[in-house]
Amino acid sequence: MKVLLVGSGGREHAMAWKLAKSPKLSELFIAPGNAGTAEVGTNVNIGVDDHDDLIAYASEEKIELVVVAPDQPIVDGLCDRLRSAGITTFGPSAAAARIEGSKIWSDDLMTKYGIPTAESEAFTSSGSAMEYGRSKPEGSLVVKADGLAAGKGVILPDTYADLDSAITGMLDDAVFGESSSSILLAERMSGPEVSVFAFVDGEHVSAEIPSCDYKRIGEGDVGLNTGGMGAYGPPEFWTAELAAKVRREILEPAATALVKENSSFSGVIYAGLMITESGPRVIEFNCRFGDPEAQILMPMLESDMLEICLAVAENRLDNETVQWSSDPHTFVVAVSDGYPGSYPTGVEIEGICAAADHGVVFHAGTKRYENGVLITSGGRVLGVVGTGKTIQESRKTAYAGIDEISFEGMRFRTDIAERAIQD
Ligand code: AMP
Ligand code: GLY
Repeated sequence: MKVLLVGSGGREHAMAWKLAKSPKLSELFIAPGNAGTAEVGTNVNIGVDDHDDLIAYASEEKIELVVVAPDQPIVDGLCDRLRSAGITTFGPSAAAARIEGSKIWSDDLMTKYGIPTAESEAFTSSGSAMEYGRSKPEGSLVVKADGLAAGKGVILPDTYADLDSAITGMLDDAVFGESSSSILLAERMSGPEVSVFAFVDGEHVSAEIPSCDYKRIGEGDVGLNTGGMGAYGPPEFWTAELAAKVRREILEPAATALVKENSSFSGVIYAGLMITESGPRVIEFNCRFGDPEAQILMPMLESDMLEICLAVAENRLDNETVQWSSDPHTFVVAVSDGYPGSYPTGVEIEGICAAADHGVVFHAGTKRYENGVLITSGGRVLGVVGTGKTIQESRKTAYAGIDEISFEGMRFRTDIAERAIQD
């Protein structure tokens, strides 16, 4: 089977690596891909936002399945357009992707169907938002841009002054453009966070898999937000009882709610949860795999990824078994000096082969010159996933791999999965 995977990050290298293991696969193309995806398939120089070119390529090359990985093209309706062109596609419709693309729509859906989440109010005027803010205790609200904002659209102000500037920044100064022309003020919840993933096809929800990611640049979760510095799973606090509750109260009701709203979901759903004192509650839904979570989930997926994607795309997930390993996995990301601010590119990377003796290396911002030299081409450069019988072992393996890799200015967090082995 000829498959086209859309995307270029670490998540996409992990997905390509897993798709390439399928006996069903004849050829794998990745648009636009990176140096890692080029090792398991053929990169095609088309960007994720070039929908016309992607559709033309898929038609001309007689691609039998397109897998769309990133949020932006999904929210912008690429999956709908591919399906309209008669191409079998894994990924939700734009209507279903509103669960990620509009935080206000998603919040209304959860409220309507009784899915536990933060209490929230939507605003388009800064005056009424600030007034509402004053009616709540200082530091008890979070401010969220309605639309996609490259993972930066959530602000957690501790004071009324910071709350006001977050509100005016988004609504009056349009810091996130159209995405922040409406906002949500949500109750600030507390508790451990977990990302839970499941394949969804209409009302059918596959076996779920939890993991934890690290968003901040600095050790101890300080500093600026990034695309993700690492991940581990399954989390130490995850139990069968919690899993059952998350399915019953969140995943299954969300799939049913989407069907009832004529926005049936087809793809992978990502529930970002906080385990509060009153139980698991939704922080946000996403309509795709997480990055860096996919880099541990693909090695944990014991079933054939291509079979599953095809089953979802053909609406027959109910006849497919999705099996996840329960072995602990840890993934550590190496980033360029300066990231998430500005950073150099074109820096030579060494040690990939030695790292692969310890774990699997997934590339993100990498390129390979024709002479074979590997260079950096992004902020998050690559990462290593390690596994073992315990989280501690998986952590040691991932760091043994990272320690083999070097490039000038390379940075990584040394505390990924550390909290899971304390106490
Ligand atoms: P998001 O972009 O929605 O994933 O939010 C980014 C981060 O902000 C989350 O991982 C949480 O740590 C935090 N956050 C978002 N919403 C809330 C909330 N209602 N209460 C507490 N923390 C939140
Ligand atoms: N891990 C965060 C995200 O993919 O949005």
